[in-house]
Amino acid sequence: MGRPRRLRRDSFTRNLVRENALSAHDLIYPVFVTDGQNQRAAVASMPGVERLSLDLLLPVARECVELGIPVLALFPVIDASLKTYDGVEATNPDGLIPRVVRELKKQFPELGVMTDVALDPFTTHGQDGLPDENGYILNEETVAMLTRQALCQAEAGVDIIAPSDMMDGRIAAIRRALEENKFIHTRIMAYSAKYASAFYGPFRDAVGSAATLGKADKKAYQMDPGNSDEALREVAMDIAEGADMVMVKPGMPYLDVVRRVKDEFGIPTFAYQVSGEYAMLKAAAINGWLDHDAVMMESLLAFKRAGADGVLTYFAIDAARKLRQA
Ligand code: PBG
Repeated sequence: MGRPRRLRRDSFTRNLVRENALSAHDLIYPVFVTDGQNQRAAVASMPGVERLSLDLLLPVARECVELGIPVLALFPVIDASLKTYDGVEATNPDGLIPRVVRELKKQFPELGVMTDVALDPFTTHGQDGLPDENGYILNEETVAMLTRQALCQAEAGVDIIAPSDMMDGRIAAIRRALEENKFIHTRIMAYSAKYASAFYGPFRDAVGSAATLGKADKKAYQMDPGNSDEALREVAMDIAEGADMVMVKPGMPYLDVVRRVKDEFGIPTFAYQVSGEYAMLKAAAINGWLDHDAVMMESLLAFKRAGADGVLTYFAIDAARKLRQA
């Protein structure tokens, strides 16, 4: 009789034969940044997550460095007075994100900084691009604006540009613009397989796009949750267009897609444990229904098992602290 339980009997054997492990180096920490000084605002639907002004973000960045978290991913909370139909504030070289990038790179040159390319925090309608009169997001007009946004981030010194908009051809356009402007080291992490997911709800609260978006959705550009062959086609296109790394998003409900992408392409593959995934684990933990640290670590290890090289997660700091204790 086979006895697989022999290798589960005690902790040393389990440690010895474990196939996958999580390290602080696997984590990317998404943060919400606001204008002003000494600004700290909780996000009700994301317990433990706050929108911070730059001065309060600096100690967080320092802790990431100390814990070995390699990258901070920035998401802006833009004042309503700066939002427009075309989201042109996204291309302002003195806007919030370029200012934060410059300061972070100055103070912590060893910390990787990643920025989102999409217009939703900057538009009055909360869409990632420019709508026509019927509300359809125009592809080429949007790509032109996103390319300006990406260049403005590159000029500020960002390490990784992460287009999350799902327009066609945007990776090629951004890569070409980066090359033409001699930003040969700027990495692109493409949100290649980004689904039209209801799990983004709390994020939209955090950046304020829930209010601007209203009842509208993003199904005419983000992927249909029923598809996974399509994810492979999207990834193939983004690699051909110049992506250095690709991403699947959301995370836990889409681990099958992560596995297919990793097996098919063998490219650095990331997954985003999004706001709604974080919120549901937090809510259950706060109610005493789940063990917070145990489900946090188990959920992150699952990404590694699925083939992800790293995970964007709001648990990054907590998980890295936990790994340090272990
Ligand atoms: C916007 C963007 C979204 C997220 C990251 N970038 C939301 C959306 O597409 O509406 C979601 C992240 C999360 O839910 O944690 N381009």
